[in-house]
Amino acid sequence: MRTSLVRLKADTTVAAALIVLMAGPALAQGGPYERQRIDNAAADRGRAVYAKHCINCHGSTAKGTDRGPDLIRSTVVLRDRLGNGIGPALKASANHQATLSAAEIVELSHFLHQRVEAIATNRNPRGPLPVLTGDPEAGRAYFNGSGGCSSCHSPTGDLAGVATRIPDAANLQQRFLFPTLRRGGPKQVEVTVTVRGQQPVSGALVRIDDFAVSLRDASGEYRAFNRGANVAVTVQDPLAAHHGLLDRYTDDDMHNLTAYLARLK
Ligand code: HEC
Ligand code: HEC
Repeated sequence: MRTSLVRLKADTTVAAALIVLMAGPALAQGGPYERQRIDNAAADRGRAVYAKHCINCHGSTAKGTDRGPDLIRSTVVLRDRLGNGIGPALKASANHQATLSAAEIVELSHFLHQRVEAIATNRNPRGPLPVLTGDPEAGRAYFNGSGGCSSCHSPTGDLAGVATRIPDAANLQQRFLFPTLRRGGPKQVEVTVTVRGQQPVSGALVRIDDFAVSLRDASGEYRAFNRGANVAVTVQDPLAAHHGLLDRYTDDDMHNLTAYLARLK
């Protein structure tokens, strides 16, 4: 416990949040210094729930988008124990339409705490880097085979030198687990809305849920539609493959891929 507190102190925001935490009533459950013990299997399931219900607004790294705040720096998440903060936060906001089971909320809690810890630990230069324990040859096979990575990427093309650009293996792993649209490729999630009997309207997705969809068209105009039987919506998310992969990677796949990518200097 002592080491992790020292580690977290390297980051003042997290340290400040910890102080709030120590004063908070939520702590009664685990003792003031006790962090949630992360159940990795539950966190894996939580990652899938996150990719389905939260990623559009809170972002593929959970660090927020213009549609939803950063959850890594959220004191609600830091204080949360097994969903006791996240559950009420989900109920409190009209932005949160998904109906989740109690078990799914616990899984989300494990996932988000795992993300917070991964980020806190990556900042610690003395921290362990268990991510390089994989087998690079197995990673290469997965990249070209069942992972399907080579249908979009190439080790001598867009990913040439990726390990030089991102020398820290833990960051490299985060990058393929939770990529963003910032390099050469498409810059936005495209959506096309067709109201029956009218011309389709396309543009950059602003927001989508079960009831409504909004976009900004090429001229910059904001358009919003209610969803219903006469409204067809097609979303083209360039990172859809990555969101789907989160459900499929085993721990070995992740470590092997990281070891493989770490060779692309
Ligand atoms: C449609 C966009 C949207 C979706 C989808 C969404 N959120 Fe949010 N969330 C927000 C916004 C916006 C806020 C800020 C509070 C508000 O305005 O409701 C927020 C606030 C939160 C907070 C409180 C953060 C804080 O520090 O106060 C948590 C926790 C949270 N969301 C978790 C989730 C989880 C988990 C999911 C998936 C099950 C999710 N959200 C899905 C938009 C969204
Ligand atoms: C359907 C296409 C597609 C597939 C399949 C795919 N990716 Fe990606 N990947 C993308 C897109 C799009 C981006 C974002 C590129 C950008 O930043 O504009 C991305 C980003 C990345 C990045 C970050 C690149 C950087 O330079 O920062 C890495 C690393 C990566 N992918 C690795 C993988 C791996 C490993 C797999 C297989 C397990 C995979 N991708 C499968 C489309 C794909």
